[in-house]
Amino acid sequence: MEEKKIILTGDRPTGRLHLGHYVGSLRRRVELQESGEYDEIYILVADDQALTDNADNPGKIRDNIINVALDYLSAGLNPEKTTICIQSALPALHALTFYYMNMVTTARLSRNPTVKAEMQLRGFADEGLPAGFFTYPVSQTADITAFDATVVPVGEDQLPMLEQAREIVTRFNHTYGETLVMPKAMIPENEMQRRLPGVDGKAKMSKSLGNCIYLSDDAATVKKQVNGRMFTDPQHLRIEDPGHIEGNVVFTYLDAFSTQEDFAEFLPDYNNLEEMKEHYRRGGLGDGTCKKFLIKVLEKTLQPIREERAKWEKDIDAVYDILRQGTERAREKTDATLARVREAMRIDYFKDRTIVREWEKMLKEAKQ
Ligand code: TRP
Repeated sequence: MEEKKIILTGDRPTGRLHLGHYVGSLRRRVELQESGEYDEIYILVADDQALTDNADNPGKIRDNIINVALDYLSAGLNPEKTTICIQSALPALHALTFYYMNMVTTARLSRNPTVKAEMQLRGFADEGLPAGFFTYPVSQTADITAFDATVVPVGEDQLPMLEQAREIVTRFNHTYGETLVMPKAMIPENEMQRRLPGVDGKAKMSKSLGNCIYLSDDAATVKKQVNGRMFTDPQHLRIEDPGHIEGNVVFTYLDAFSTQEDFAEFLPDYNNLEEMKEHYRRGGLGDGTCKKFLIKVLEKTLQPIREERAKWEKDIDAVYDILRQGTERAREKTDATLARVREAMRIDYFKDRTIVREWEKMLKEAKQ
């Protein structure tokens, strides 16, 4: 097999994407897309995986496929360079999942820390654990290997999935011969990209906490979230008081988004973020000024995304066609992998009549 550089990653379509997704993965994907270093790039809208913990609410998944697609396109994923496709319309993934189930033990699946944590979060510990949810790492292995992915850009929480995928690949190749491409995780480079806190300072942006800034939020909502809800330093009561940077969400977001040019453009009192932080620590810099600057910085990212989204929203037919064509291309790719897998397992019975001759020979020998 020739070693191409192939990227596969994906998202569960359970809601609109927010700044956490942007900082943690979306921005990176666009960079990777523009780097020109990859032969093929696929982004999977993982609706089947989303169903493993939303089986009773398929409408939510159905609705959010378009939200996620709009977020992708408006953030800069270009369907000419990146194939966007829908998991449930790729039957090879289901077949591969079934074969890979035999390449992993339930004991091993039970040890997956991400699945364990998600189980707790969803109350499956008490209610009973859906087998589909329990085995979704196997299905994710199918996603990854079906595209011959060499590189899988994901958040840190997905490392156990990649570890499991690599084990399954090793086991499969050992059992049936070199067939599957070994994938590698690519995780965010620094702490800041790994986890952007919610505006309230809670560990993670989450819809149920209402602490998100969505890529599709309008300017007034962004302003309200920053001015009204963003956590700063509770001890910084008067402007003259010295302030803390650690745990101060305004500065965490500035770390993630602000550039030197932003200072020249919006806050020329400082040359860079370090100078601004220094003043805040010393005292004399008010939260209001910091938040005003942050809003401008965020808008520099969000406004173009918002404008792009508005354009796409006027032509949902076009988005549909992008998904349809992307899925078609993905179907060819994944079907080819399944064919290779079936051949390796020697279960490609109806490809030609090779097996008829084998059966005849075996039956004859049995009589002797
Ligand atoms: N489990 C991933 C998440 O929750 C989404 C996903 C599904 C994925 N299939 C994938 C990620 C394949 C990488 C590769 O974020």
